[in-house]
Formats: sequence, C-alpha cells, structure tokens
Amino acid sequence: MEPIRIAVLVSGGGTNLQALIDAASRGELPHGRLSLVVSNVKGAYALARAEKAGIPALTLTKKACGGQAGFEKALQAELESRGIDMLVLAGFLSILSGDFAARWPRRIINIHPALIPSFCGKGFYGLKVHEEALKYGVKVTGATVHYVNEIPDGGEILLQKAVDVLPEDTPETLQRRVMEQAEWVLLPRAAELVAARLANEKESAT
Ligand code: GAR
Repeated sequence: MEPIRIAVLVSGGGTNLQALIDAASRGELPHGRLSLVVSNVKGAYALARAEKAGIPALTLTKKACGGQAGFEKALQAELESRGIDMLVLAGFLSILSGDFAARWPRRIINIHPALIPSFCGKGFYGLKVHEEALKYGVKVTGATVHYVNEIPDGGEILLQKAVDVLPEDTPETLQRRVMEQAEWVLLPRAAELVAARLANEKESAT
C-alpha cells in the first residue's frame, strides 16, 4: 500500500511537527509519509526541525506571493506537483480561505489548543487562547484536532483531550501542559486516522 503523502503547515517553533516526526520514527504513522513542510513565516524554527529530519521544506509568505490568493495559489501548485494527499496544520497561525479548504475536503486537519467550541475562531491562536482560558477562569481546558472547512475552527471534530488548569498557572505553563498532555499525543494519532482512511479509499478505488 502506497503511503499517504502528508504536507505539514507551520508558522513557528514546530513542536507539533516534532511530535509527528517522532511518532513516524516510532512507527506510529504507518499509513502516512511526512513529505513536505511549508512555513508561512521566514526562519521559523520548524524549518530547522524539518531539515534535521530530512523532510523537504519551503517558505511561502503572503507578502512574497502578493496576498492571500497568491499564497494559496502557490501552495496549491507545490502540493499538486509533489503529489500531496493530505495537510496537517501544526501551529499554522494563518486562516486558509473557504475556497482553498473546499479543494481538500476531509483532507486538512488542524490542532487547536482548547476544547472547541471554547476559545476558538478568528483571533484565538497560540498563547492568546490560554490567556483567555485563564481570564475566564475555566478549570479544565485541552486540545482539539478537527477537519478544516470554511469556518475557522468550525470543521468536524476528530479527537479531543482535556487538561486540568492549575491555580498557579500562567499562560505559558498552561500552554506547555496542554502541549505535553494533549497536543503532542492527539496530532500524530489524528494524522494516522486520516491517512489510514485515505489509504483505504485509494485502495478500494483501484
Ligand atoms: C500550538 O499550541 C498549536 O496548538 C497552536 O499554536 C501552537 C504552535 O506551537 N495553534 C493554534 O493556536 C491554531 N489556532 P508549535 O509551533 O510548537 O507546534
């Protein structure tokens, strides 16, 4: 069975990308192959992680592509020319258009650092999500992996995991606990779930 070719989209440090790389090296992503990393931020540390793991990586910025439409056109061309089957948004802090998402139905997944439908949607990303959770005073938060559709953080939920909020938490300590206990566990698991489904669909279509 041909592995499903996965592109990982990143914007920052890439710890979720690292979780995917580590899971793959432990044999926990048997239906997928990490085939491309795309950063929309120049010099993102995630690019160094890709290079170290021997995964082809490139940077595409909205600025260099002349805006969102140009960015998505360039991205689509790269994905097609490299035979990519599915996308994983792993700390990709930009919103893809509904038109782009519609080209990849149930083929794009995203990790969000909260229990959707709490603390999600436009403007809720990175540390901001944890700042808002602490401000609200929730005692439990977590992470969600969902399919990407035209609604920001609005696609079908694949996996969720709850994480306790502790009284002494800062946004930074909470972010770290959510990553360790939820994100790095859920994302590789969800990537394998989708890759296995796509591999089976591919097999039954031939
Ligand atoms: C992660 O916490 C991820 O869930 C979040 O950004 C961080 C990226 O960290 N994503 C979002 O907020 C998306 N709305 P990483 O670059 O170390 O994986």
